[in-house]
Amino acid sequence: MNPRLFYFTAGTQGTWKIRDIRPLIGAGLDWGERLAVTQDPPTEQAAWCLRGIKSNERYVTRTEKEQLLAIQEGLGRPASRYASLIPIRKQATWWQMTQDERRAIFEEQSQHTGNGLRYLPEIARSLHHCRDLEGVEPFDFLTWFEFAPEDEPAFDALLAEMRATPEWDFVEREVDIRLER
Ligand code: HEM
Repeated sequence: MNPRLFYFTAGTQGTWKIRDIRPLIGAGLDWGERLAVTQDPPTEQAAWCLRGIKSNERYVTRTEKEQLLAIQEGLGRPASRYASLIPIRKQATWWQMTQDERRAIFEEQSQHTGNGLRYLPEIARSLHHCRDLEGVEPFDFLTWFEFAPEDEPAFDALLAEMRATPEWDFVEREVDIRLER
């Protein structure tokens, strides 16, 4: 088992009850009753299964990293009864750019980390990369967020801000899956 590899499987099993699957950009995903997050491959017949790897950071500066570490809280807090899985795929043009060009759009133009920091520690997050996995994956990233039900309006506000930034001009597929446990 790869300790950094996670499976997100929609079907009839799992801790998380699926509340909603919203196709935002491009094709959506089929309906499932529940979502399981596991480190072993699924054994049940699934509606769909997405895989992603927790990887090293690409964009944060030392200062940003220290700011994140000082405020962020981990997954699995008892009050975090709501979660959101947002699979995202970016256009080929994003991947053709160099690292410094991508960083300029991600932070200098879009303030992804700078804005996101304002929503911590209420929103806990985890990022999984899919691009370098063997085979063709339908998404580049699986983003995962956990929060208390009363913080969902703030989460929606953050998403609205983010989706209006230049970074999102490069998003070609996005599905917003809302969960509860
Ligand atoms: C990447 C912070 C919310 C989607 C990142 C990175 C940071 C970050 C620091 C870069 C990691 C690296 O250096 O490689 C935050 C904070 C948030 C937040 C503090 C506040 C809760 C969101 C939301 C979304 C999102 C709401 C939308 C679904 C992504 C994606 C990436 C990313 C797709 C990967 C970008 C890429 O590598 O091209 N986030 N984020 N984030 N975040 Fe967020």
